[in-house]
This record gives sequence, structure tokens and C-alpha cells, in this order.
Amino acid sequence: MIITIDGPAAAGKGTLAAALAEKYKLSYFDTGMTYRAVGLEMILSGKDLHDAAAATEFARNLTFPKMMELSQHQEFRSEQGGKAATAVATMPAVRDYLTRMMRDFGKNPVFADGTPAKGVIYDGRDTGTVVCPQADIKFYLKAAPEIRAERRLKDFAAKGIDISFEEVLEHVKKRDESDYQRKGTWPADDALIFDTSDLSIDEVIAKASKIIDEKQKNS
Ligand code: DC
Repeated sequence: MIITIDGPAAAGKGTLAAALAEKYKLSYFDTGMTYRAVGLEMILSGKDLHDAAAATEFARNLTFPKMMELSQHQEFRSEQGGKAATAVATMPAVRDYLTRMMRDFGKNPVFADGTPAKGVIYDGRDTGTVVCPQADIKFYLKAAPEIRAERRLKDFAAKGIDISFEEVLEHVKKRDESDYQRKGTWPADDALIFDTSDLSIDEVIAKASKIIDEKQKNS
């Protein structure tokens, strides 16, 4: 089974994907990690973030183990790391190589320990439209920018990072602008759209589970 979960930053995709992967024993691929990995390689090698040839080369050579290794770096999830990821994500050749890597993973999905999985849950921006248009179930999560900024602010506070609500909201809006200029970042025609603004994570998981259970019963 292949499930895709797309939507803007901080809409709750990662939390939902992790919970569903655990519940249905599926492997989980956070596709934003591929762009973060390439962005981090650009930072670590001192490249100009707009150097598309260098970014393409990093994307072409990216492997799953390399991505996991880079994900341990402190800048991987930082604001700077996010900006680098967003910059390389605008480059078509980078997207082509990373999309290929994501699709290959879906052909023989494995868990983190290398054991085979019977399916995969992708989370990202274009996984139901570009990466896996043939997915069995597609979810699209959305939430108001102010709600997403509030969630991000809580994450920052938990990590001891001091930043104002206005600043986080500004970042969220800028990220949306950049992410939504690309094709494939709008919901797939057959995606189930959940507005998570007024839903708890448990409610979102319950709604998604109902749909997966239904699908499994009928297949
Ligand atoms: O979800 P995230 O913040 O880790 O994503 C990092 C960047 O990668 C962000 O700019 C969106 C981009 N991205 C993308 O273009 N396509 C995906 N499938 C996943 C992420």
C-alpha cells in the first residue's frame, strides 16, 4: 500500500505520517529530508546556494544512508538548513534526481533497520501529484498560516529557541510563497483534504484511519 500526505509546512503531515506508519506497519519516507540533505551538503561545502550545477551533483549522488547520516547534523532541521533546502528545491534537475530516489524507495520499501515493509507512507509537497500519482490513498493537510506559525513557535520553544510569533509567521508565509510557485504542490484531484486548523492530532489520525480501514476492507 502506498499512502501520500502532502501540504504546507507545519500542517501536521509528519505527526500524522509517523502515527499511521506505526499503526499500519508501513515504512515512512519524509521526502523533505532529501532536499534538506542536498541543502546541507551545499552549506557544508561552502557552495553558493544558487549554484544549480553543484546542487544537481549532490542530488544525483544522494543515497539513503548518506541522507540519514546528514540528518544527524545540527543544521539539518535549523532555519538555515530549511532555507538551503527551499533554495535547492526550486531547481528542476535536483527535483528530478530526488523524485527518482523517492520512487525507487517505493519499489522495495524497507524499515529503518533494513527489513522489508509491505508499503510506504510518503510525506512532502508533491508526493501525491508528482512522486506517486498512482498512490492508493492521498491525503492533503492544510491549516491557516497563523495556526501553523503557533505550532512552529511551540517547537522552537521546546528546543529553547527564542523567536517571536511575528517572525515565525513571516517565515511560514515566505516558505509557502516559495513552495507553492512550483507545479505539483496543489492537492491532487483525488486527494482527501483535511483542514487541521481546528482538529487535534488524534482527530486527524482517527479520520485518516477510517479511510485506510475502509480501503483495506474493500481491497
Ligand atoms: O518539509 P520540509 O520543511 O522538511 O521541506 C524542506 C523543503 O523541501 C521545503 O522547502 C519544501 C521542499 N520539499 C519539496 O519541494 N518537495 C517535497 N516533496 C518535500 C519537501
